Amino acid sequence: MLSRYIPTNLIKNREDGVVCWSSPSNIALVKYWGKKEHQIPENQSISFTLNNCKTITKLSYFKNEKPSDTFSFQIFLDGEHKPDFEPKINTFFERIYTYLPFLKDFSFKIETENTFPHSSGIASSASGMSALALCLMSIEKQLSVNKSDFKVSGEESHKYFLEKASFLARLGSGSACRSLEGDIVVWGKHKEIKGSSDLFGVKYPNKVHDNFKNYQDTILLVDKGEKQVSSTIGHNLMHNHPFAKERFKQAEKNITKIKLILESGDLKAFIGLVESEALTLHAMMMTSMPYFILMKPNTLEIINKIWRFRKQSGLNICFTLDAGANVHILYPEIEAEKILNFIKTELVAYCQNDHYICDRVGFGAKLL
Ligand code: DP6
Repeated sequence: MLSRYIPTNLIKNREDGVVCWSSPSNIALVKYWGKKEHQIPENQSISFTLNNCKTITKLSYFKNEKPSDTFSFQIFLDGEHKPDFEPKINTFFERIYTYLPFLKDFSFKIETENTFPHSSGIASSASGMSALALCLMSIEKQLSVNKSDFKVSGEESHKYFLEKASFLARLGSGSACRSLEGDIVVWGKHKEIKGSSDLFGVKYPNKVHDNFKNYQDTILLVDKGEKQVSSTIGHNLMHNHPFAKERFKQAEKNITKIKLILESGDLKAFIGLVESEALTLHAMMMTSMPYFILMKPNTLEIINKIWRFRKQSGLNICFTLDAGANVHILYPEIEAEKILNFIKTELVAYCQNDHYICDRVGFGAKLL
């Protein structure tokens, strides 16, 4: 338990209210895969925050007449009541109750929508959990009597707000803690990244070369189905995994490497590191027990086409993957026209219903 996140003085005299946040998804460059108890990552990870793929969550709260032993909430996605989402939110509320002791004093209505299609195979847990965590922090802020936890005006109180929101989001879904800020976020304590922590994501504090400004991410939706392996099962596969120890060491080294790459703007080195990370993530799944192949034939077709095109054109196009079959194509803004043309003419045919999403690096969550 972390006392610094337990609010000390909340007003007893509660009123109803409503808050609304939008929060983006993110794409990891060095992947988080494997966790300890309490959502503590086994290795450090770093991601680009996205701009267009986001969740918008409106949280209405109504004071309970009588004290309650349980959490009271209803969740709606695109206006439709979703009781099947409730167990996940209930687990989240149980994990964060110590840090938000007002949770049982209200009944909540959670109304959420995603800018990307729900059945697109894009995980909404990062954007969804971060948006909800931010809404809850807005309520905490409103309930703080002497604002002692938010005391110092300006920058410092904002820092506490974001840090605790990321801490809470992590308890909902690990990668969600990297979705609050932009344009690059690190999660996991690393000796070379100042301020980094296992408990929350931090905005990448070091110099970033202009090559990485407004980096593009075109997401090819190869398989829009339900995830074949849930992230909980996936992370658990790293327990007793024969290569886990080496993998965690490699991730730590890759953070050191990417720090140099981000500073120098070396796009060739970036491509090598990012693609290797994606394939290593999949290799971990292929070599665990039980084992899984999460790529589809079209994922491989796309990868091979990217490699061929890169060789022919000399352009700095590369791919990364999450724990699924969809492909994220990353490239610098300056090459966007040529690369997007290639994607449209050569790759979109491998997507389910020709479906793809154009996104780019963004700057984090917004209070609406
Ligand atoms: C492959 O954050 O979805 O996307 O903590 O169990 O909710 P939980 O897992 P989750 O894992 C995402 C893993 C990944 C890589 C990454 O985003 O770093």
